[in-house]
Amino acid sequence: MATEEHKYLADIIKATHATLREEAQSYGPEIAWERHVTRKDILQKYASSMHKLATTYWLENNLTSDNATLCRVQWVKSQCEEYFLNGGLQKYNEREKDIMEKINVDFIQTEDEQPVNNGLQSRNFVDPTQKIILLDVGSCYNPFGTLDMFDVTAIDLNGIPEKVLCCDFLNVNVGKEKRFSADKHELLQLPQDSYDVVVFSLFLEYLPCPKQRYICCKKAYDLLQPGGILLIISPDSKHVGANAKLIKSWRYVLSKLGFMRIKYEKLRHIHCLVFRKCIFKQVAMRWANMQTIPENNPLYQDDVAFFIPQDFRNISCEDKQEERQMYNEEEMTCMFNELPFDET
Ligand SMILES: C[S@@+](CC[C@H](N)C(=O)[O-])C[C@H]1O[C@@H](n2cnc3c(N)ncnc32)[C@H](O)[C@@H]1O
Repeated sequence: MATEEHKYLADIIKATHATLREEAQSYGPEIAWERHVTRKDILQKYASSMHKLATTYWLENNLTSDNATLCRVQWVKSQCEEYFLNGGLQKYNEREKDIMEKINVDFIQTEDEQPVNNGLQSRNFVDPTQKIILLDVGSCYNPFGTLDMFDVTAIDLNGIPEKVLCCDFLNVNVGKEKRFSADKHELLQLPQDSYDVVVFSLFLEYLPCPKQRYICCKKAYDLLQPGGILLIISPDSKHVGANAKLIKSWRYVLSKLGFMRIKYEKLRHIHCLVFRKCIFKQVAMRWANMQTIPENNPLYQDDVAFFIPQDFRNISCEDKQEERQMYNEEEMTCMFNELPFDET
């Protein structure tokens, strides 16, 4: 049963999402986003509500359910252990080499076929002093900060102070090194080819338009070391097949960027995916190039867009109020029914 406080916190989350999406429809995503990031009071309220929901209601729920070990933080931890500590990295290095040998039958090297600088191979993750360097985007309250295996950079538009640095990932610079604001609270630039892991946990859905999501995926690519991994956790309570076409389109778009999908799991309320930044971009692109893309399929009309189910819902002016109600409920079910909101 949800308590009054629980509902109140959930309403703050719902209202923030609904306003951003409505404004994106009315004024366009760029203007809506500019307005959104200036509303510090709303962002702060959102962060503290999310923090409380996730660390009290959500955590209690997970600890008492059979899915305790499958919550998203645990999932990220276990994937990183498998990849960095239990031979995953080496396995996929070998796989890339094998694929390159196949591709090389008629091999004429172009720019895309040059190996991207491969820093990760020489790292020794078995040494406990060599932490896994993780960037948590849209971190809100730094859920990975307590895990010893990670050296975390936690960023959010306006997350919980002390735990998280301010940074708009959509607009942050990528350059040679990290750059901070004078008061050290804000990150102005992130270092390219530096991270072992980038995490997007319930992050992409926050952005109101497919192009903005694509920009963030491209940025994750630029920030990762070759061989590094992007972990995407996306809410969806439907059965695994319901949004299968969409999930396939993510693979396609990311493959064109240079990512190879190495893991996909559908848990009860979330899709969990791991994408590796390939050492040879050509290896990643090979999968996309082998696909036959259905003509006029909106998911593939634009190579620089990352769609989610919400993009295919239309809100007309007349029934905005009614739809808004419905949309909120749907979004809540979609975004947060990992939380005990869904009392069915
Ligand atoms: C639903 S919360 C997810 C919080 C946390 N990652 C989790 O899994 O519980 C989404 C977070 O993404 C943040 N966010 C959205 N767009 C962002 C951006 N462009 N840059 C940084 N953070 C962003 C929001 O402020 C919000 O705290």
